[in-house]
Amino acid sequence: MNQNIEQLNKQSEGKSPEEVLRYFLAEYKGKIALSSSLSIEDQVLTDLIVKIDKSTRIFTLDTGRLFPETYSLIEKTNLKYDIHLDVMFPDYKEVEELVKTEGINLFYNGIDQRKACCRVRKLNPLKRAFQGLEVWICGLRNEQSITRQGVQLVEWDEGNQLIKLNPLIHFTEEQVWEYIKTNKVPYNKLQDQGFPSIGCQPCTRAIKPGEDIRAGRWWWENPDQKECGLHRR
Ligand code: ADX
Ligand code: SF4
Repeated sequence: MNQNIEQLNKQSEGKSPEEVLRYFLAEYKGKIALSSSLSIEDQVLTDLIVKIDKSTRIFTLDTGRLFPETYSLIEKTNLKYDIHLDVMFPDYKEVEELVKTEGINLFYNGIDQRKACCRVRKLNPLKRAFQGLEVWICGLRNEQSITRQGVQLVEWDEGNQLIKLNPLIHFTEEQVWEYIKTNKVPYNKLQDQGFPSIGCQPCTRAIKPGEDIRAGRWWWENPDQKECGLHRR
């Protein structure tokens, strides 16, 4: 598989995100999906994907703890592009059990509790979303954080046995915004209120000017632990 990944990276070198997507969406039709958190990156990818092949599956993990603004954006995106984002929910029994044993706001009690919540509300539904897939598209960018500096355009996701495609991996934040403005892509209103990286409401806060863009995510934890497990490497 590594050889295949190397080859895919090589052939994608120097190509624009649109060209990369065009190739993968055709080659893996029916077996490829975008995992969208409704971030600015995922909104750019949604715009690109819809314009190439509207039948492509786009799913989002509704943890049950998202911001109201994120739900509004799901609606707005569906209306603008005339699509239906696949909204994946966690297993209610798992959530009920976790809340009963660890509390409703368990994430503030320690990293193990926080990871348990992410596992039940994001990782397990993600595994369900992966059924039948060969490629998952994500909005990761190298610039986003120290944990993402070494991420490649095409990667082999060993844990999930899938090809992981990060079409915007080399994009700067400025390029993402340029695309959004030029193409009138809908984005989360919280972006204009100091939230450059938006996850679940209890685990995300606004940042101050000059702070790292992911400083508002799980702000009580160390920067090198700030991944929910979706992007384990
Ligand atoms: S996270 O791991 O810290 O939550 P981040 O918010 O930067 O990740 O998003 C990185 C990529 O992970 C997104 O571009 C998207 O592909 C995927 N992702 C994160 N959260 C979700 C979600 N709730 N639903 C679907 N995909 C998600
Ligand atoms: Fe739970 Fe916070 Fe993880 Fe969301 S980001 S699943 S609320 S721990």
